[in-house]
Amino acid sequence: MKKHLLSLGDFTREELRALIDRALILKAEAKQGIRHQQLAGRKICLLFEKPSTRTRVSFEAGMYGLGGQVIFMSAKESQLGRGEPLKDTARVLARYVDAIVVRTFGQDVVEELAKYSDVPVINALTDLHHPCQVLSDMMTVLEKKGTLDTTKVAWIGDGNNMANSWIEAASVFGFPLSLACPEGFAPNQEILEKATAKSPRAISLTQSPSEAIKGVDVVNVDVWASMGQESEQEKRLGLFQKYQLNAALMAEADKEAIFMHCLPAHRGEEVTEEILEGPQSVIFDQAENKMHIHAAILEHFILGAKK
Ligand code: CP
Ligand code: NVA
Repeated sequence: MKKHLLSLGDFTREELRALIDRALILKAEAKQGIRHQQLAGRKICLLFEKPSTRTRVSFEAGMYGLGGQVIFMSAKESQLGRGEPLKDTARVLARYVDAIVVRTFGQDVVEELAKYSDVPVINALTDLHHPCQVLSDMMTVLEKKGTLDTTKVAWIGDGNNMANSWIEAASVFGFPLSLACPEGFAPNQEILEKATAKSPRAISLTQSPSEAIKGVDVVNVDVWASMGQESEQEKRLGLFQKYQLNAALMAEADKEAIFMHCLPAHRGEEVTEEILEGPQSVIFDQAENKMHIHAAILEHFILGAKK
């Protein structure tokens, strides 16, 4: 297994499945009140350049749950904000902690940190990928649908970081994925081409939400303007209207389909209140599973890492 977790496409199906299976065990044990100490004496640094509620708290709670400790640092308030090079930051932090969990803008930032860090670097969201989120979402799909191999997944909306990570997940696991994105908002072309060439099942891209959603088992949406794209919010509101997931569109999925959203959600924009709060919604299971998958990730990458 790779030393750093930067994108899902870097891993095999067996490696990702092992992380999900371990998270399921940790979740079951947490419910039984079993306490863990395997990361006692270990520390991680969360280096975040964008806001976060779920990812920050679930990484922190996951680390504390395994007996470890956490140092949170806002990139803006660190010397990075005054221009200290990433390569120096990586080598300094690696002397203090056992893993660095990073939320930032460019994928090149996590790559540069990983290049210079002696300890694992975990991508907690970049503009290009959100691998830990999609890993916990796949855990949720497995819980709800019993399999990851043949489950049909749809992505409706912006071809953003989440869409890119779902594309990589589909190619690694081989489940069918249909994406519907407005013109000009397609996922990263290189990621899509590479994944399509590798995947045993179809990864399709259309501009028609009803075509993409037809008969699927899992429906995914996300905000129309991601962090860093706030100035485009108004323009996107107009361009994305027909991609709103409402009851009429959801009715075209399989009747047992689940609705997923990594959150935070904008009610009345990408999804209606009715769907978000409705019986098909699994959004809070997704949110909970982030903590268990993050614990599994930290356990694996820290205990597996050679310093
Ligand atoms: N889903 C997710 O990453 O949420 P946060 O931005 O709150 O971390
Ligand atoms: N695509 C969203 C995900 C937030 C968790 C963003 O990058 O803002």
